[in-house]
Amino acid sequence: MGRLDHKVAFITGAARGQGRAHAVRLAQEGADIIATDVGASGAIGDEVGSVPYALGTTEDLAETARLVEAHGRRAVHAAADVRDLAALKRAVEQGMKEFGRLDIVVANAGISSPASSLEMSEQVWQEMIDINLTGVWKTLKVSVPHIVEGGRGGAVVITSSAATDGIYENLAHYSAAKAGLVPLMRILARELAPHGIRVNTVHTGTVVTPMILNDATYRAFRPDLDNPTRADFDEAVRAVSKLPFGALEADDIANAVLYLVSDDGRGVTGARHFVDAGANL
Ligand SMILES: NC(=O)c1ccc[n+]([C@@H]2O[C@H](COP(=O)([O-])OP(=O)(O)OC[C@H]3O[C@@H](n4cnc5c(N)ncnc54)[C@H](O)[C@@H]3O)[C@@H](O)[C@H]2O)c1
Repeated sequence: MGRLDHKVAFITGAARGQGRAHAVRLAQEGADIIATDVGASGAIGDEVGSVPYALGTTEDLAETARLVEAHGRRAVHAAADVRDLAALKRAVEQGMKEFGRLDIVVANAGISSPASSLEMSEQVWQEMIDINLTGVWKTLKVSVPHIVEGGRGGAVVITSSAATDGIYENLAHYSAAKAGLVPLMRILARELAPHGIRVNTVHTGTVVTPMILNDATYRAFRPDLDNPTRADFDEAVRAVSKLPFGALEADDIANAVLYLVSDDGRGVTGARHFVDAGANL
């Protein structure tokens, strides 16, 4: 018996990192998975020009689907940019055709493009808002009505960030987008409560994924050094995180998502759930 037997979950940004961890964790508990990602080539700047690291590829997404299947569950996967409402809709409909129901949405896709507030270009600002804020709304718009129609209730988790509660230089656009998700979550939680659908945000601290493990992020964490290394980055993370282990793993967040979408979290809605190793304490 899994905690999510017979359930179906739609997860964006599922090619790798946290999204893949969520897909695998929910599959381990019995859920079938609809997995989408941007479908990049692996080259830096492909699909989203302002992002200084390569995004998830079609092969990465196919590997997530294989990992889900390795746990005995089914997976539908499709390239769908969260800025493209029609592509998201097609992906969800493909999943509905295959599985016949939807119970869980994890709006996880996101980018990072550290830059100082007044020096960033309009492209850097706009792509951030389009993906990390509007992309979440589009994700929910095409998917949540299927949960409502099912009449069985369900759960939505939106990936926000601990950056909503701190003052992190070079992340004004990122923090603004992630903070904007909070009223979206709370208002949706109110609107969907009569349907038995719970909506929460998960606010993650620094998690070791490809978004973070790259030179641009190391430089943002260590502006004091010309060519910071992974070790220099780890030192900076340990200084921010209050718990001694430093950066979080994707599975730490997947366990929190599982709690929020399963019956373990049946009383939790409209809540900001922090998994940040105490970063803002
Ligand atoms: N890693 C961290 O320290 C950290 C901290 C706070 C919040 N977050 C958030 O966690 C979420 C997951 O990030 P991650 O750490 O796993 O990084 P990641 O880069 O490994 O994963 C993000 C995924 O989103 C996909 N994506 C990006 N733009 C997209 C688009 N336009 N359409 C569809 N997919 C797109 C990427 O291709 C990638 O596969 C993001 O929302 C991120 O902002 C991460």
